[in-house]
Amino acid sequence: MSWVTKTLSSTIGRKLIMALTGLFLILFLIGHVSGNMLLFKDDGGEAFNIYAHFMTTNPAVKLLSYLTYISIIGHVIFSIWLSKRNRAARPIGYGVSTPPSTSFSSRNMGILGTIIFIFLVVHLQGFWAQMHWGELPYVTYAGEEYKDLYSIVVFAFQNELMVIGYVIAMAFLAFHLSHGFSSAFQTLGLNHRKYSPAIHTVGILFSILVPILFASMPVYIYFTQS
Ligand code: HEM
Repeated sequence: MSWVTKTLSSTIGRKLIMALTGLFLILFLIGHVSGNMLLFKDDGGEAFNIYAHFMTTNPAVKLLSYLTYISIIGHVIFSIWLSKRNRAARPIGYGVSTPPSTSFSSRNMGILGTIIFIFLVVHLQGFWAQMHWGELPYVTYAGEEYKDLYSIVVFAFQNELMVIGYVIAMAFLAFHLSHGFSSAFQTLGLNHRKYSPAIHTVGILFSILVPILFASMPVYIYFTQS
């Protein structure tokens, strides 16, 4: 068995992949939330459309996008494998005697992840697939034509059900990140008496701030563009 096969079939190897893909997705979220902040700019979507054009055409960014897709798929597949193995190793289940020291998030990472995955499918179909293959209107800035992705985002967030769905999904994302962040560092063996509390605090702040920023986008568009 090669070391790759060995790593991929061992529990610790699978946990390692979960941690590495999770940390990469955390970096993706930082980039994604920062770029999307352009939605708050009061310029009719010009800066956002130019940014979206850059993000879908620049070769280096494209490479990062492929890594993002691979990380999402890897994170999902390995989480399913891990939870299957855990269940097989513990067929009776904890019942009511779940250790009280575990948090709500750590006990429900699977269900939280599943909800985020469903959100992602709806999200990618609504925006990403439209940007790549949809028939978007075009706008011209400084003599150059751009796809008007901003109009699609504004249209989607005129719908209160969509806005409510996004806000709820971001609450689930917050819980998922609140455990995932420090858990990834722990899996990588980066738990140190001195640094672990700081990693935990940064993780909690991150898992509150990023989902709030994401959630404020549909809410802002709903109240300012209707
Ligand atoms: C409400 C906040 C959000 C808005 C307004 C938003 C907007 C967008 C838009 C317009 C795109 C298409 C642009 C493109 O293809 O480059 C996109 C792509 C994407 N979004 Fe979001 N997004 C939000 C939240 C999220 C969240 C919370 C996640 C993850 C949990 C996420 C994951 C993705 C992914 C994976 C892509 C594809 C990126 C790529 O192709 O590199 N988005 N988003």
